[in-house]
Amino acid sequence: MEQELVNLRTKAGQQLATVEDISQLEDFRIQFLGRKGQCSTIMKSLGKVPIEDKPRLGQMANSVKKEIESLYDEKRQLLLSNTASSSSQNDSIDLTLPGRKPETGKLHPVTQIMNEVCAIFESLGFSVAEGPDVEHDHYNFEALNIPAHHPARDMHDTFYVSDSILLRTHTSPMQARIMETRQPPLRVIAPGKVYRCDSDITHNPMFHQVEGFLVDRDVSFADLKGVLTVFTQKMFDKELELRFRPSFFPFTEPSAEVDIACVICEGKGCRVCKHTGWLEILGSGMIDPEVFKMVGYDPEVYSGFAFGLGIERIAMLKYGIDDIRLYYENDLRFLSQF
Ligand code: FA5
Repeated sequence: MEQELVNLRTKAGQQLATVEDISQLEDFRIQFLGRKGQCSTIMKSLGKVPIEDKPRLGQMANSVKKEIESLYDEKRQLLLSNTASSSSQNDSIDLTLPGRKPETGKLHPVTQIMNEVCAIFESLGFSVAEGPDVEHDHYNFEALNIPAHHPARDMHDTFYVSDSILLRTHTSPMQARIMETRQPPLRVIAPGKVYRCDSDITHNPMFHQVEGFLVDRDVSFADLKGVLTVFTQKMFDKELELRFRPSFFPFTEPSAEVDIACVICEGKGCRVCKHTGWLEILGSGMIDPEVFKMVGYDPEVYSGFAFGLGIERIAMLKYGIDDIRLYYENDLRFLSQF
């Protein structure tokens, strides 16, 4: 019995030395310390030893069992701490990996074009003025020679806030607002949002215009043509054909709408230019003497030209976009390309 206990202690020590992980350790525990394990078996056999040897052998058996238990505990601690440190090594941050690039916002393509347009006119000596989106009927229509019941009002598809307040349908009210507070010579652009009840591939209910006007002595239609030609050359970095088409605006006389050779189909005809090869980008003309009279300028002394440019149309031509509504669908796959 004594020898068996010594052998058991030795065998347990040797076997424990080969244990490499928690599951092998569990096998060891069952084999040596479990209810039917080798320690239990040897304890049970104590009942068969002579009575005079019982106390000594009992003590010895207990101390072998305790020794195996404490060897088991030590090994368990060791294996657990190894597992913890190796898993924390796996979870740790690899400082050599490249970092995640933070998403950065960008200016909306229409804002980018708006800034570019303003910069070109500023380089030609125009100063920038801004006015309200919610406008008085007076500035949007009356001061521009469009009295109540004038048929030209129908062309504007106006959103009314009340009988006399509306969302401005164009940036032209800025002509009246600036002229009634300043004296010529004037060279001003007024960028901003305008609103019309209108929607298809080239029309949006909210869009942007840049109003431009120049008032001085001896201003002619040739000056208007010159300024707009220089503008388009700078905007598109090439000489594009412009078409001045006779038109009518109550606040200019004569009036012209200006078309640009469609950049999308290069004049061959597509759905954007409605198969004409041309896309209208602005309305323009010589400021009507009636408008000058309403702001107190003498039309015999001063003359001037004005134009109102559609920014989304310029952006469509510049970027080759064939549906204006894409600008306002907030699809980042579209917007992030600019
Ligand atoms: C006007 O708004 C005049 N105020 C322009 C003007 C100013 C004439 C000064 C004379 C002197 P019109 O309605 O044509 O004109 O609009 C001007 C430009 O805005 C158009 O050429 C077009 O490029 C753009 N535009 C008009 N409606 C829309 C719309 N619904 N969506 C996007 N762009 C539009």
